[in-house]
Order: sequence, then C-alpha cells, then structure tokens
Amino acid sequence: MTKVDVLLGLQWGDEGKGKVVDVLTPHYDIISRFQGGPNAGHTLEFNNIKQVLHTIPSGIFRENKVNIIGNGVVLDPGIFKKEIESISKVGFNISDNLLISKKAHLILPTHRLLDAASEAAKGDTKIGSTLKGIGPTYRDKIGRDGLRVGDICENFVEKYQARKAQHIVMLEKLYNFDYKEQLEIFEKDWFDGIETLKKFVFVDSENYINNALREGKTIIAEGAQGTMLDIDFGSYPFVTSSNTICAGACTGLGIAPQRIGKVFGIFKAYCTRVGAGPFPTELFDTVGQDLRDKGHEYGSTTGRPRRCGWIDLVALNYSIMINGATDLIMMKADVLDEFDTIKVCTGYKIGGNITTEFPYELNEKVEPVYEELPGWKCDLTGITAEKDFPAEFKSYIKYIEEKTGTPITIVSVGPNREQTIIR
Ligand code: GDP
Ligand code: IMO
Ligand code: MG
Repeated sequence: MTKVDVLLGLQWGDEGKGKVVDVLTPHYDIISRFQGGPNAGHTLEFNNIKQVLHTIPSGIFRENKVNIIGNGVVLDPGIFKKEIESISKVGFNISDNLLISKKAHLILPTHRLLDAASEAAKGDTKIGSTLKGIGPTYRDKIGRDGLRVGDICENFVEKYQARKAQHIVMLEKLYNFDYKEQLEIFEKDWFDGIETLKKFVFVDSENYINNALREGKTIIAEGAQGTMLDIDFGSYPFVTSSNTICAGACTGLGIAPQRIGKVFGIFKAYCTRVGAGPFPTELFDTVGQDLRDKGHEYGSTTGRPRRCGWIDLVALNYSIMINGATDLIMMKADVLDEFDTIKVCTGYKIGGNITTEFPYELNEKVEPVYEELPGWKCDLTGITAEKDFPAEFKSYIKYIEEKTGTPITIVSVGPNREQTIIR
C-alpha cells in the first residue's frame, strides 16, 4: 500500500501552497484538499496564466490527474461555480477530473451572513475573517446541524429551508442583523451553484482514496491556511475553524495515521499574516512596507494588505513539531534580494527570560529576539540550479536547516512554476 504525502503551511497561510502543489503534481496520481474552504486563495502561475483557486485542488491544471475535494472541506456552491467558470475561461475543462466527497459540508448563504454578523458584533475584537462563512459552517458541522454535499440528492430544498429558518432566528434575535437584501443575492448565486455542482461526480472519497492506495496510486494532500491558524494549536481565538495540521489530513480524507508519508512543511523566507491577531515579528516600519511591496503581499481571497515581518523560528519549530514535517519548502526568498541584512527571530523574551518554546498565548509580553544574517544582494529570480546560488543565500538555507533540524528540499525564487529548485 502506498502512502499519502501532505503539503501544508507552517505559518499564517499564504506561504505558496498552490504554486508548489502544482509543481509537484506530475509526481502524483491524485491531489486532494482536506480542510478549509473558499477562505483559501491558492495562486498558480504558468504559461502566462495566473489563477487563484479557492476550493478546487491545485492539481487541476495538469493532465490525467484526479482531484478530490475531501470530506473535511466546506464548499460554497456559488463560489465553486465561479471557480469552474474562471478555469474554463483559460481553456481547461475539468468535469471529469474532479471528484467531490458526499460528506463535505455546504456553506449556506446564511452562514456567510452569520459570519458577517458575528464579526460586526465583536467590534474591536473581531477575527478579521474572510467573511466566507467558514466559522458558522464548521460550527453547524460540529453541532450536528450541517448540510452535506450528499444531501443534494434527496429532499434538498426542505433540508435547506429548515437550516435557513434556524439561521434567520439567530440573525434577527441574536445579532439584530440587517440581512434581507444580501440574502436574496447570495441565495440566487448559491442555487445556481447547486446546479453546477450536480454536474460533478459525488463520491465516498474515503473509500476511493483507500482503494487507490491499495492499488499503489500516489496521493498528495493539499493543506489550506497554516499551522498558526489551526483551531487547536494556532493563535486562538485568531484562527480559522478547522485543523490545518497534518492530523487534519487523516480526518479530512479518512486515512489512517500510518498511511501518511512525507510531510512537506512550507514557509516564506520571512513571515506574513492577514486578519487580526498576534504576530510577534511584525514590522510597522519601511522594512515591513518593502516586504509588502516586493512580495506583492495582498490577500488572494480578500485583497487585504498582508501584515509583514521577519521569519519566526520559535513559531516555525513549533509548527514542524506539531506536523512532524519531514521536508521543508522555502518560498519567496527572492523578496529579500535587496536587503543588506536579514533578521531571524530565534527566541522570545517573556518577562526577562528568553525561551525557544512556543508559549500558551502570544500576548504583548512576547518580545522577539533576533540574530542577523548578511543579505545576498543579487537577483535570485532567474536562477535554475542550486550551484548558482550566491554564498550568502546558501548560508541562509543552511542556517535555517540547522535551526530546525529539517532539510529544505525545495526552494522557490519566483511565482512561476519554472522558478522552483528541487534539491
Ligand atoms: P497559498 O495560499 O499558500 O497558496 O499562497 P498565496 O497564493 O495566497 O500567496 C502566495 C503568493 O506568492 C502568490 O501571489 C504567489 O504567486 C506568490 N509566490 C509564490 N511563490 C513565490 C516566490 O517564490 N517568489 C515570489 N516573489 N512570489 C511567489
Ligand atoms: P490560504 O489557504 C491566510 C485567516 C483570516 C482570518 C482567520 C479566520 O490561502 O493560505 P476564516 O475566514 O477562516 O474564518 O478567517 O484566518 N485566513 C487566512 N489567512 N491565508 C488563508 O488561506 C486564510 N484563510 C483564513 O484572514 O484572520
Ligand atoms: Mg492564500
């Protein structure tokens, strides 16, 4: 029996998962998403095409591959329809290479409104969610009130109306939220999306995947968000509502822990975060702005400017531990090309003591401790072989490998498929 390799984010999301899954897809038969939903925005660039995927796995642009939306994913039919249309526009027809788990939960129009109402009610303490309805949908899943893709087949409208009625009580009584106009617009898109969804094959993806493993097929599971946004281990409550970590691939696909193979942990050579919540190495000066400008750090899903800062090895090592990362993938090193020096957070100073252990809470008492490394001051974006890396960049890679005890097996020096060096 073969195993499932997992690729997941080690920081606060947007590490470049989409790009690398697309690059690695030729090595796999099946590509599968296991959690999250359209809060994700995974960008792929190849042959002058730039595509942002939200729900559909990043293997979709390669021939003869099966892409699966797993049971752990939450799916918004309206967004799904737009995604399909956008992919068709660039000349890809995907109806026969995309399978959808019957057990994936549906994001309802009222989930989106509940997300907006909840954020508005929180005021200054809001999460800064993507407003895609993620939290309310997972809450209904865990509360055993969810609606699943498999429900589309039978008494669907009745089931939908019952959930909607519950949600409207909440919107009116709990939040006093003005929802009527938006609901009408969202519902139209949503029911159009259901018609699109019906054209696809719904499967018991846990059976499909385990059968494929028995037949010796190779599978990669594509994470969304990042470990620092994990519901259990992230910077709670400023997190998303799913398990973004490696264990999430087991529950989100129906595979046993011993079926996990390699765990690719992906990180940026610096760090970003979008939305609210603690971020110890955040920079508020011109260096932060430089990172944002050079890295085009604006959200793929919401367009919001991403908060930028130096790489944080305390958080990174915690993420590597939680996931059992076997391989590291370093992204966007080219963004640092012009820096004289590069800072790396190697510890946290908390109340006078320096620790390398990730604390219970990342509060204002956590102060990053930095080491400084020399920059390489040259353009990495055209480099195609490791032998051509400048010495300072080689030292930077070696330094991170030593500090994490984990090999960096892929280095990315630009957004394009081609700008990837496999070591
Ligand atoms: P994901 O959510 O993890 O898939 O990442 P996003 O797509 O949200 O954000 C990553 C952004 O960085 C996208 O705009 C990519 O096109 C871009 N990108 C990916 N790898 C690199 C790289 O090595 N260098 C540069 N400059 N950009 C990259
Ligand atoms: P990808 O897969 C970066 C953040 C939101 C917010 C918090 C909760 O592209 O890396 P949610 O809508 O999930 O309830 O929002 O999580 N967030 C992401 N940040 N990348 C993502 O996905 C994200 N998905 C959610 O900004 O802070
Ligand atoms: Mg993203």
